Amino acid sequence: MTDCFFLDAGNGKTGVSNPRAAALVSALGRRSIVLIGLMGSGKSSTGRRLAQELGLPFFDTDAEIESAAGMPITEIFAQHGEEYFRDGERRVMARILSEGPRVVATGGGAFMNAETRARIASSGISVWLKADLDVLWRRVRKRTHRPLLHGDNPEEILRKLMDERYPVYAEADVTVVSRDGPHDLAVMDVIEALERHLLPAPQFPAPAIPPGDTTSKAASGLPPRADCAEVRVVLGPRSYSIFIGSGLLGEAGRRIQQLAPQAACAIVTDENVAALYLPAAEKSLADAGIKYSSVVVPPGEGSKSFEIYAKVCNDLLKARPGRSGIVAALGGGVIGDLAGFAAATLLRGMRFVQMPTTLLAQVDSSVGGKTGINAPHGKNLVGAFHQPSLVLADTGTLESLPLRELRAGYAEVVKYGLIGDAAFFA
Ligand code: S3P
Repeated sequence: MTDCFFLDAGNGKTGVSNPRAAALVSALGRRSIVLIGLMGSGKSSTGRRLAQELGLPFFDTDAEIESAAGMPITEIFAQHGEEYFRDGERRVMARILSEGPRVVATGGGAFMNAETRARIASSGISVWLKADLDVLWRRVRKRTHRPLLHGDNPEEILRKLMDERYPVYAEADVTVVSRDGPHDLAVMDVIEALERHLLPAPQFPAPAIPPGDTTSKAASGLPPRADCAEVRVVLGPRSYSIFIGSGLLGEAGRRIQQLAPQAACAIVTDENVAALYLPAAEKSLADAGIKYSSVVVPPGEGSKSFEIYAKVCNDLLKARPGRSGIVAALGGGVIGDLAGFAAATLLRGMRFVQMPTTLLAQVDSSVGGKTGINAPHGKNLVGAFHQPSLVLADTGTLESLPLRELRAGYAEVVKYGLIGDAAFFA
């Protein structure tokens, strides 16, 4: 989880118009971000997306070498040998690094050259995408375009390269563990690591106001919150923020107002959650001047049915939200899936806000855009991927959660630690 460090006001804008990206680019000055690491560590895929997110030009040294030589790398190795390739690689690195800022994905051997390392140190920030052997091997085993792996035992070659190169890669300014998972997560890991390296500790600024938005910071009424965390899900124009903190339900109105000024909002919730939190959520919307309506369904998995889905759709339509309207899911995973699917399908897609009230929904189902209902043939068989525009995880709501529910959420949290983060697990 990152600290509360606002990327933007949840308006889905990427590139330098995004204040967080702008801060990073400004801290870079003329230096380039240079991704290093073994083959399969994700330098090119991460680099391309990172460049897009930061609004910087992207360079892939292998592609530059191939275009300069007019042939693929395998052919350069076959016709001229490795030494010739390395010399070309050194010259291409010098050319690319002569201007900045840029995002540069290097070939796995580039950083092993002392001259190149010195050049990167003076005109770039090196970011090592570090991965375990099994991760790398899984990613490269079926690819044939890497001449160094053309021997009898490519896995063994990869292991030897690791032994040889990892002590040198360790000189990088920043190290990021390359995990299996969506590329956008890798981009987020790199952005966060660069922020830690380049920027002073976050000062928890208030969210930036999108251009053209007439509401002032004061009017948004959202004071900076040191006790609230923001995790930014980087998905290009569908990027969104997850806010985590106590009391966020009370801020829902102002945060939704900021996300979608003038929009009407329909809350979908269940009877149990309605009894506990619907009045607070409604008051928050009313206080922010948002026109709202509420749909309350029975609690439990049974509500992820065609019947209830149809009822929710009809009730939402009755409130005439318009295509700019917001559907807000207030509850656990069932409500998030049901309301999200209604939002995905109504009016060919409405924006929706997740306000998860169980730990499991806060750490799992409210994030990632999976929505749907059950069919007689099985669970979640009718659904759609539809990303929320905002997630407000009010940790205060966990106080009313039965112990069994809390444990179910913690099991998921423990699982994340086991999968990819020993320190977090500990
Ligand atoms: C190499 C890695 C390759 C490419 C060439 C040599 C290496 O790039 O530059 O095949 O020495 O590790 P990737 O790391 O992008 O696969």
